[in-house]
This record gives sequence, C-alpha cells and structure tokens, in this order.
Amino acid sequence: MRFYATLSPGLEEIAAREIESFGGKIVEIRKGKGRVFFEGDLKLMAKLNYMARTLERIMILLAVEKFATLDDIYRIVKSLDFGWIKPDQSFAVRPLRAGEHDFTSLDVGRVAGQAIIDSYMESKGVRLKVNLDEPDVIIRVDVIFDEVYVGIDTTGDESLHRRGYRIYDHPAPLNPTIASSLIMLSNWNPERSLLDPMCGSGTILIEAAMMGRNIPPQKFRREKFLFTNIYGEELLEEVKKEAVKNEKRYLRMTLVGIERFRKHIRGGIVNAKTAEVYDTVHFIQADATELCLKEIDIAITNPPYGLRIAKKGLIENLYDGFLRSAKDVVADKIVIITAEDKILRDKALRNDYKIDREIWVKYGGLDTKVFVLKP
Ligand SMILES: C[S@@+](CC[C@H](N)C(=O)[O-])C[C@H]1O[C@@H](n2cnc3c(N)ncnc32)[C@H](O)[C@@H]1O
Repeated sequence: MRFYATLSPGLEEIAAREIESFGGKIVEIRKGKGRVFFEGDLKLMAKLNYMARTLERIMILLAVEKFATLDDIYRIVKSLDFGWIKPDQSFAVRPLRAGEHDFTSLDVGRVAGQAIIDSYMESKGVRLKVNLDEPDVIIRVDVIFDEVYVGIDTTGDESLHRRGYRIYDHPAPLNPTIASSLIMLSNWNPERSLLDPMCGSGTILIEAAMMGRNIPPQKFRREKFLFTNIYGEELLEEVKKEAVKNEKRYLRMTLVGIERFRKHIRGGIVNAKTAEVYDTVHFIQADATELCLKEIDIAITNPPYGLRIAKKGLIENLYDGFLRSAKDVVADKIVIITAEDKILRDKALRNDYKIDREIWVKYGGLDTKVFVLKP
C-alpha cells in the first residue's frame, strides 16, 4: 500500500528514518514540504499512528496527479473507489491549497465532496452523508501548485502532535513531534545525560523519557484514530499489546530540566506524571545563564525567541549567558531551535562554538533554525 505522512517542514529526513525504523519503505521525501511518501502494510500504518514520534498525520495515498482546473479535480476524485465507506458512515473532505489558483480551498472541498457523493451513488446507489464536525471518514485533498493529492486520513482531525499527557499548557510550548525530532537529531540514547536549560513545561525531557522507556507517544490519546472506523479496532489492539511488552518501566536516565519560573516547573511535573515518567525527569528552578551542574553530555532547548516573550536585548543577553555558562557543563553538543538565528549564530561564534549543522524548520508559520553546536 502507498502512504504519505505529514510533519513539520524541514524535518523530513529525520521522519523518513523513523518510518524506516518501523519497516516502511521510503518512496520519496519532499524536502521542505513536510511530506514523506512510503510503502508498507496496514499494520505499519497502525504502528506509525500509535508509536511514531515525529509525524503529524498518516494518509493512505489514493491519487497524486497533475491538474489544471476544478473540473480536473472533480474528475480525478470521482474516478476513485470509495466503496469501502459503509453506507451509514459520514464523511468530510479536508482541503488544503498552496500556490496561485483562481479558486479557494473551500471550492476544492465542495467539488471533491460532490465527486465522492456522485462516485458512491453510482457504485452503491446510496447518497453518502457529509458531516464536517465529526465525520467517520476524512478524505484529505491537498492542492499543491499544479498537483492534487488525495488521501484517506488514518489519524483524524486530532494530529499526532497532540499527546494526551499535556495537562499543563505552557504559553509557548514546543510541538512534541519537533521535540522528538531534535532528540533523534542529537543521537541521544538513555545512557547519555540530557539537559534542557530552559525547559518550560518539560516537553523535550518528557519526550526523551518516553523514548528511552519505549512508552508509545499516543498511549494517553483520548481521541479515536480514524483508521479504526475503516479497519476495526483489532489492528490497534494488536499494536497496543506489542507496545506494552516493549515498555521498559524502570529504566533510569539522567534528564535534567532547568526553568526560571516555578509555575512552569509545577506544570512540567504534572505533565511528566501524566506521561508516567516523573520518576526520571529532574526539574530544577534556576537560571540558564548560571548553570551549576556536573558535566552533561547533551543539551537540547527551545529558548524564548523575543517575538512573543521578551525583547531583543534580553534575548541577546540570555543566549550569550547560556552559551557561556554551558561551556563548562555540556560535553558533547547543544541542539537549539530558535527563530532568532542571527543572534544565536553570533553568540555561538563569539563563545567559540563550532556550528556543526543548521537546519531550516517551519514551525507554526514561523521560519526557525535548528543549530547543532559543538563546544
Ligand atoms: C519557549 S519556552 C520553552 C517551552 C518548553 N520547551 C515547553 O515545551 O514547555 C522558554 C522557557 O525558557 C524560560 N526561561 C527564560 N529565561 C530563562 C533563564 N534565564 N533561565 C531558565 N529559564 C529561562 C522561560 O520561562 C520559558 O519557560
């Protein structure tokens, strides 16, 4: 079967490696577009939904074709087989559009929806119900420049970045799929100590702890995976059973979070408890510019960007202070994601770090850079 996954643009290579680690065969990586195409079976699809840490959503690919007009989109969608939808099930088209077109994404949704209704009426003699709020089946129709992608959304409206452990909402939390990608990028493993010096509600450390213990990222999901409406619950139950067997419940790790504000630490503790990893994440209320710690192997962090929380001058002092202080503490590497790339680059070089990698990542509409620094 052919699938594609969506994720934060810029992190495709890391996501592709993760898909491969579950047995998927990569067909194409759309660099900078947040899409990875791959092949595999239904079990792989279920596994990725439940266990992949870097993906947002997984679709079964029904068609990818060039098009010119809305009529072409209607024709492409109508030619597909929707006979697998049960007659009493409702559906919704979730359209997306990128590029210059003389129609809107609402037009795409309307035309594709009509094509599905007409196709089903012809093959089954039944008019399928549309339910835009809580559909049983979601068809994604993405119009990207001159191509249209049609896919069955196996995940659902609730993207995989929504981990059910996040009870406390930090005002500027890091997307957990990006947090996991940064951890993978750093080559961290449970034997290496990890520090997040500006940890907020602890997302990076909680993701690392769950990774180390093989706790599935969707273990605490409250919403349904939509593939269960098509293929039943058995597939998911099978994957869950395997996951339970693989959990390493009492693995000790050194995961340290430093945060200036007590409120966020309290929130981080609540989230870590919900994720069942509180016993392994150590939160400290302190200042990232005055680290008083023994040697740590790797630091990964998502500092304030100045756009939302503070002003540029404060950010300059914070980045400078942290990098100076980290020189005596972090032994192997520092991974930082920031939208203030000029400031970070400048402060890294001034403090004699080597910039090992710089990766552009689109994060919630913002252009950010991930830096890998070597002391
Ligand atoms: C963007 S947030 C991190 C969010 C976090 N990754 C999460 O998912 O919850 C940056 C955090 O850095 C903290 N911070 C700012 N200056 C700091 C300092 N000097 N020392 C420690 N923490 C600091 C802020 O309070 C804020 O919680």
